Amino acid sequence: MKTIVVAAIAGLLLGTLVIWLGVYNVAANDKHLSITENLLEVVRERSIETRSASLKAPDLNNSKLIKEGAEHYAEMCTECHLAPGISDTELHTGLYPQPPVFSDPDYDEKPEKQFWVIKNGIKMTGMPAWFPAHTDEQIWGMVAYLQVANTLSEKDYNELSKPSGDGHNHSHGNKTHSEEAGSEQQQSSHNDDGHSHDSNEQAGSQAELKSELQPVPQAHNDDGHSHSH
Ligand code: HEC
Repeated sequence: MKTIVVAAIAGLLLGTLVIWLGVYNVAANDKHLSITENLLEVVRERSIETRSASLKAPDLNNSKLIKEGAEHYAEMCTECHLAPGISDTELHTGLYPQPPVFSDPDYDEKPEKQFWVIKNGIKMTGMPAWFPAHTDEQIWGMVAYLQVANTLSEKDYNELSKPSGDGHNHSHGNKTHSEEAGSEQQQSSHNDDGHSHDSNEQAGSQAELKSELQPVPQAHNDDGHSHSH
């Protein structure tokens, strides 16, 4: 008994020392041991499987839903997940774990699991949670698109994902971010990242921006999306 306690304390101290000395490398370009990778894979799969078990996908074979999903996908997801005609990006290459490429011919996943991941994101991977910025219906739309993503040619994809001009105004995340930031300095540092969708905001003065941000409609989400369906 005494030996077990001593061994446990020694183990704990050693573990603490290893952490404290920074032995573990958190760099994205330092790959996990295969045993760690396999373990993380099982943890992720079981977690997502269990949490999505009670979900039931609506009819995803709906061309309007697929188109809306493709438009959202083209706006927000291709930097990491690529698309027909987009074979690589710096973000895709630099991420670890690697984001799956939905347009790969052998990509396949259950819609309910995809829905859960898109809605909730995955810790420590770079995959963001897209809720509450998006409604369940919008997320099912993206899932509907993902189900057909690897059947599309580049031309079909470009056609499908082209904004239909139905009044969608995507300024994703930026408004929320600037609301939180609330300072000119943070605002401009955000704009420094060269995101082209910031250009409208850059054009306006801070005052205009503030007044634009004040009356954010609370209709179905609060990130300032103006979805006029
Ligand atoms: C900043 C990069 C990034 C962006 C942007 C991003 N993702 Fe991801 N996504 C990831 C990474 C990384 C993973 C893999 C996580 C893992 O392996 O555990 C992932 C995983 C997923 C998965 C799980 C796939 C599977 O088969 O396991 C889905 C579905 C998904 N993303 C959908 C989306 C959609 C839809 C969007 C856009 C709304 C999006 N992602 C935007 C990085 C991103």
